[in-house]
Amino acid sequence: MCGIVGILGTEPVARGIVEALKRLEYRGYDSAGVATIESEGHVERVRAPGKLHNLEDKLKASALKGTTGIGHTRWATHGVPNEPNAHPHVSGDVVIVHNGIIENFKPLKDELLKEGVVFSSQTDTEVVAHLIARERAKGVPPKEAVAKVLKRLEGAFALAVIFASEHDLMVGARMGAPLAVGHGDGQMYLGSDAIALAPFTNRVTYLEDGDWVALTRNSIEIRDGEGRQIVRPMNFTQASAFMADKGKHRHFMAKEIAEQPEVIGHTLAEYADFAEKAARLPSEVKIDFANLDRLTITACGTAYLAGLTAKYWFERYARLPTEVDIASEFRYREAPMPKKGAAIVISQSGETADTLAALRYCKAQDQDTLALVNVPGSTIAREAHAAIRTYAGPEIGVASTKAFTCQLTVLAALAVAAGKARGAISRDQERELIGALTEAPRHMAEILKDEKHIAEVAREIAHAQDVLYLGRGVNYPIALEGALKLKEISYIHAEGYAAGELKHGPIALIDENVPVIVIAPQDDLFDKTVSNMEEVAARGGKIVLLTDDGGIEAHGQRTFRRIRVPKAHAFLSPLLYALPVQLLAYHAAVFMGTDVDQPRNLAKSVTVE
Ligand code: M6R
Repeated sequence: MCGIVGILGTEPVARGIVEALKRLEYRGYDSAGVATIESEGHVERVRAPGKLHNLEDKLKASALKGTTGIGHTRWATHGVPNEPNAHPHVSGDVVIVHNGIIENFKPLKDELLKEGVVFSSQTDTEVVAHLIARERAKGVPPKEAVAKVLKRLEGAFALAVIFASEHDLMVGARMGAPLAVGHGDGQMYLGSDAIALAPFTNRVTYLEDGDWVALTRNSIEIRDGEGRQIVRPMNFTQASAFMADKGKHRHFMAKEIAEQPEVIGHTLAEYADFAEKAARLPSEVKIDFANLDRLTITACGTAYLAGLTAKYWFERYARLPTEVDIASEFRYREAPMPKKGAAIVISQSGETADTLAALRYCKAQDQDTLALVNVPGSTIAREAHAAIRTYAGPEIGVASTKAFTCQLTVLAALAVAAGKARGAISRDQERELIGALTEAPRHMAEILKDEKHIAEVAREIAHAQDVLYLGRGVNYPIALEGALKLKEISYIHAEGYAAGELKHGPIALIDENVPVIVIAPQDDLFDKTVSNMEEVAARGGKIVLLTDDGGIEAHGQRTFRRIRVPKAHAFLSPLLYALPVQLLAYHAAVFMGTDVDQPRNLAKSVTVE
């Protein structure tokens, strides 16, 4: 997935395009490029492999003056991340940027090759540029040429196209990947999201799948997949024009970890009545929990692990059968869904392609759908029957931290509300659980005070080739999350396991070189987890025990290292134990010298399958 932007402006647009691309870098940072129409029929293009700052450096040497232009930040799908594969791509008078994948690019490319077309990149995008140019060569006018080619494309994509000979025209198209039109005064914009357009305008029209749009500086013409002219509503977005900064922190991830006590407080304030110690759901939540046969939760990556944690809560406290699946699996599984069923999809960005597809599947199966997102106005939020949000604020680091714990907070409140609605918990139990939840920010702040010690432990595990994380019950997803965090930012191989599952295979990996992070609050499963820990110790594994004072006193002695987590209600433990595993991953990555906020091969928002 990539970020695309286009501007029909009144001043030179290159700088504005780069400004917008900075806001889209979360979508990919393999290469970036800008093209502007410098004079009629003449396009200038500047592209650079790697991060956006490389493009910025190059642009200093080439003063682009064009007032019509498009730009792109790439996450490589077809072709290595080098300059020839960087967008924009050009053919004849056609200049194009693309987000997504053209799935039938191979037969289309073969067709063009037979006609003698010469390709200068390995991308699927260049095929589209040549197809449109072929229509133009036959005398087909610009927007009709795009419309004709769109009919031949399969896959999920968003496109922005300009024409060297058309100073006042930009064509955009959307099929399965987001695209927004920004309305200015005598200026028009295209962008992958409203955040990219925020420096220019807060008036945004979201295109629907199958739509294409022809923009001039003073007009907008939207057509649907059937070619009918239609009107899509204009929205006033709240996307901030200000870029988040790192404050006093070295990385966004460090800042986002540190913000957790505060943002959990904000999120709790929306979902809990502190005085009554009661769950308080926004009016958007229409799910009739009392009459539900089954809840389905689906998401990707860390958001999926928030869902997996919530399964334990919904089943235990609401006695509600809950199915959780990774969205990329769920969408093709053709899962039968019950008549009285509801589905929750979880996504920080609200743009993840697999999660969006899973949501659409649930809707097609007549499920009542609820989206839990951090970005209001995102595609997933707009498509679900109802959407609620976390109050994490912008999360810039690719590794999800505060969004995860905010998701857990909302899901915990939802589980309590569901338990109450189903008569599975009493009012007293609700008071106890919500009361416990409101303690989370205080406990989190205490954990953060121990960062120096956790950083020392991180340095010790950073030498390992493999790291295992073990957890049981509601802390099993935190073991998975710990391993995911470590892998994605430090590139150290790590796996999370259900502690009881270790003996069924993975224990063969244990030797004195393998650190084993054991997540074990002193709860009703503590003794079982300790038994699994002993099995590891007996085979020489280096145990890093994450537990509370009682756990350290009982079993801390023979472990390699200990990290203390405040004693709290068991309901809270995933929220609290998430922090030391984040800090372990963060400090291991800093020690390894990796690019913590933008780790290799990743992107913050994954809008391709
Ligand atoms: O925006 P989403 O929450 O839908 O993103 C889902 C995953 O791509 C995301 O959580 C990913 O796993 C993170 N990089 C993990 O830190």
